[in-house]
Amino acid sequence: MKYKSCRSLEDNYMIFNGNLDVGTNVLSFCCADEASKICVDLCDDPAQTLENYIERKNEIINESMRIAATGGPSDNPYHGACSRCSKFCEAEGWPKGEDSKIRFICFGVNPSPCQAKCIYCSQNLENRRKFDKERDGAGHELVFKHIEYFKSQGIFAQNLCWDIASGEITVHPFRDRIYDAVGSDSAGWLTNCFLYSERIGDNLKSNPDSYILFSIDAGTAKTWHKIKGTDNFLQIKDNIKKYVQASANPQMQIVLKYLVMPGVNDDLKNINAFIQFAVDNNFKRIRVTRDRWAKNTNESIRGAALLVAYASRNNITTYLDEFYGLKDIEMINIAATELNKKLY
Ligand SMILES: C[S@@+](CC[C@H](N)C(=O)[O-])C[C@H]1O[C@@H](n2cnc3c(N)ncnc32)[C@H](O)[C@@H]1O
Ligand code: SF4
Ligand code: SF4
Repeated sequence: MKYKSCRSLEDNYMIFNGNLDVGTNVLSFCCADEASKICVDLCDDPAQTLENYIERKNEIINESMRIAATGGPSDNPYHGACSRCSKFCEAEGWPKGEDSKIRFICFGVNPSPCQAKCIYCSQNLENRRKFDKERDGAGHELVFKHIEYFKSQGIFAQNLCWDIASGEITVHPFRDRIYDAVGSDSAGWLTNCFLYSERIGDNLKSNPDSYILFSIDAGTAKTWHKIKGTDNFLQIKDNIKKYVQASANPQMQIVLKYLVMPGVNDDLKNINAFIQFAVDNNFKRIRVTRDRWAKNTNESIRGAALLVAYASRNNITTYLDEFYGLKDIEMINIAATELNKKLY
């Protein structure tokens, strides 16, 4: 039967993204705007959390199937939340159905420590929430208890993928617990590359599906400093080279990301130097994003188009991430094609 659903629900995505400073420790299905309306609380007993999680998922999917079969409105609040999300769509592939294994786990617990001061990041706002081991330690222990329990139940899919996204993993006081939990599974490591981690290097070597996602956001040391607040552009380039050495397939395993900030890093000098760095290291994938809180979203179209145009000329694939809508992506691709016509 065709019914509305999404990848996160069907593949049992587990996002640990509680806000421990305000006393919420939750398991979400996704990071969408509606995520907090359908998440479940972490219980002291992980078996109970798992039961609640599966029940919530089934409630949404069963309601969706009912509507697909008989039509009519729904007063189910969880289904209602998903209905407002652009990811909730009717697809041939639902249900994937061959098993009920977990295919994605995100470690995104807040607050988490970071030593950088990126001007766009909420970790760096004046009222930023600081990690406090005494206050947040027990909440982290509960998350680890859940991960260990789920693992012991044999419910991790063979192709499970981790996403390590909270704060900065390389300075996290619980980093060894996180590295141990991931082991040699495939993982996306979101790191600022200020420090080189042998453990991340080992994971990149043992699993060619693992990758680093590094928001470099600049081509010049001056712009890097302006954005990150630190004078270590050469150091991070060295660390990237170390990850290249450690990786099984560096071309694909190091993904440079560029968060376009109009008037800050969207000039030709920065974009040229950034693409040149990617070319020099033979990287084949870049990701382009924008400030998710930006008021005037049109202002970041030109910078994104320049990145797409320069990347494609150098056989680098650009992925425009979820903060660009479909209409923006269309405009960016048209502008990039025009730019490339002019440049050749
Ligand atoms: C919060 S950081 C944590 C991981 C790591 N410290 C890093 O910088 O990659 C995760 C990602 O969030 C992105 N990010 C932070 N603030 C953002 C914003 N205002 N808009 C869009 N993306 C943002 C960063 O580009 C980064 O790739
Ligand atoms: S439909 Fe949207 S809100 Fe609902 S689980 Fe999927 S991604 Fe999350
Ligand atoms: S390095 Fe990551 S967590 Fe730290 S301030 Fe920058 S984006 Fe935020």
